[in-house]
Amino acid sequence: MNQDDFKDRYGPVALVTGASSGIGKAFAEILAAKGLDLVLVARRLDRLEELAAQLKAQHGVQVTTRQIDLARPDAAQQMLDATASLDVGLVVSNAGFGLKGEHAANDPQAMTEMLMVNCNVPMQLVHGFTPRLRKRGKGGIIFTSSIEALMGCPYSAAYSSSKALVNALGEALWAELSPEGIDVLTLCPGATESEAAGNQGIDISKLQNVMTAEAVARLTLDNIRNGPTFFSSEPYKAQMDKLLSLPRQTALMAMAQGMKQ
Ligand SMILES: NC(=O)c1ccc[n+]([C@@H]2O[C@H](COP(=O)([O-])OP(=O)(O)OC[C@H]3O[C@@H](n4cnc5c(N)ncnc54)[C@H](OP(=O)(O)O)[C@@H]3O)[C@@H](O)[C@H]2O)c1
Repeated sequence: MNQDDFKDRYGPVALVTGASSGIGKAFAEILAAKGLDLVLVARRLDRLEELAAQLKAQHGVQVTTRQIDLARPDAAQQMLDATASLDVGLVVSNAGFGLKGEHAANDPQAMTEMLMVNCNVPMQLVHGFTPRLRKRGKGGIIFTSSIEALMGCPYSAAYSSSKALVNALGEALWAELSPEGIDVLTLCPGATESEAAGNQGIDISKLQNVMTAEAVARLTLDNIRNGPTFFSSEPYKAQMDKLLSLPRQTALMAMAQGMKQ
């Protein structure tokens, strides 16, 4: 799709959650380069404002920033209110975080926040945006999920199950909305350079086949019409397919071994 067609279908405005770093920031940079105006959401307002100033100067687009804690129950409504007067054609529900380690050792409050950010926000946000997108008769929704959505991952139990919800939501909505001209794509990244690994105590230099956030976001936007799901990393998808072809007990024990290291 050329830039004009992309802007016509998904513009004039895109909403990106989790735009202060990593994959969300990369989505914002690429969408601005395609000429879309942006509404950027995260908690770190200083980061969003810095990015907004850069994108305005580089691409001449309009960028609005919103400091919203997506763990709050009214977060989706705040975003719907903030965009009520804007013609949003693309919703990128990307913000999320993980918790690694033994499930019993996880902080219950952090698990609740993770469910709000990873699950409640995408579900409510898209529920609110669907009538608006339907009215336009064109547009798109991108959910950032994870390769971990494909199987319950030992030592990442809460996170992998939260992302399984995202995949189910994205698949169902793809079938509901794509016949109406609204593209729905669920991105399942493998290991990607961002702040996520460091936040979870993972040394990213020890991981293999790590992609840049820019490559993941660019490939996702290139595949926006190829839903329901998009796997940005072929090696991670191949590894997961291998596990999924095994008897489930074998696969889970093999994964437990790998995740424990
Ligand atoms: N990196 C990977 O290897 C990988 C692999 C699979 C899936 N993913 C998924 O990719 C998505 C993006 O993560 P990333 O890797 O780019 O990590 P990241 O660099 O840590 O970015 C996470 C983004 O989410 C925002 N966020 C987190 N909690 C929030 C909250 N309570 N309220 C508002 N915003 C919040 C952060 O903004 P603030 O902190 O400023 O609020 C930040 O902008 C996530 O859904 C993640 O699960 C990542």
